[in-house]
Amino acid sequence: MRIAIFASGSGSNAEAIIRASREGRLSSEVGLVISNNVNAGVLKRAKALEVNNSVIDPRSFESEELYITSLLSTLDENEIDFIALAGYLKLVQPELIDKYRNKITNIHPALLPSFGGKGFYGMKVHESVLEAGCKVSGVTIHLVNEKYDRGAIIAQRTLPVLDDDSPESLAERVLKIEHEIYPEALQLFEEGRVQVTNSVARIIDKA
Ligand code: GRF
Repeated sequence: MRIAIFASGSGSNAEAIIRASREGRLSSEVGLVISNNVNAGVLKRAKALEVNNSVIDPRSFESEELYITSLLSTLDENEIDFIALAGYLKLVQPELIDKYRNKITNIHPALLPSFGGKGFYGMKVHESVLEAGCKVSGVTIHLVNEKYDRGAIIAQRTLPVLDDDSPESLAERVLKIEHEIYPEALQLFEEGRVQVTNSVARIIDKA
């Protein structure tokens, strides 16, 4: 696969995916990093790692149509056939979801379908997990569909919530797992092991 990573922030997950590809843990290549935020750390990481990168900010287009056209043509020019969202804080347009049906993943720093949906991003997720008194939290990789954080779940991993956890300490441990699980989940797609039926993904055994 030729993957485009969409990210708005620091880009540590993007870097983990790029490194997994460089180190041969993924057979895919990261062909492009797209950010909506010109100041995002992910762009610095992409430049340092010499990965094509582009700023496409919906606010800088006169219409949504022009924005989508630019996004789709940038993906085409870079021969992208899979998209990994990693801390991307913009809505993914229906045109994109349609064109890359079951080929767009997202990472969420909790166990969906809990603690997901609109507004659940950044520290808010971990604060809510602690307020609910959860004994476990974790990471979810899921497909992106028209409903926010509700696409088919591809992979999840749990970790214990500790009595003295702060949102920050929990976030830090969750992030370490994110860096492991995202490349592993992408590998399932490379191997053709993800089968989606009625919004449920099954992972088929290795041939
Ligand atoms: C991660 O916690 C991810 O789960 C969430 O946003 C954060 C992005 O972190 N969607 P980074 O930019 O990859 O460091």
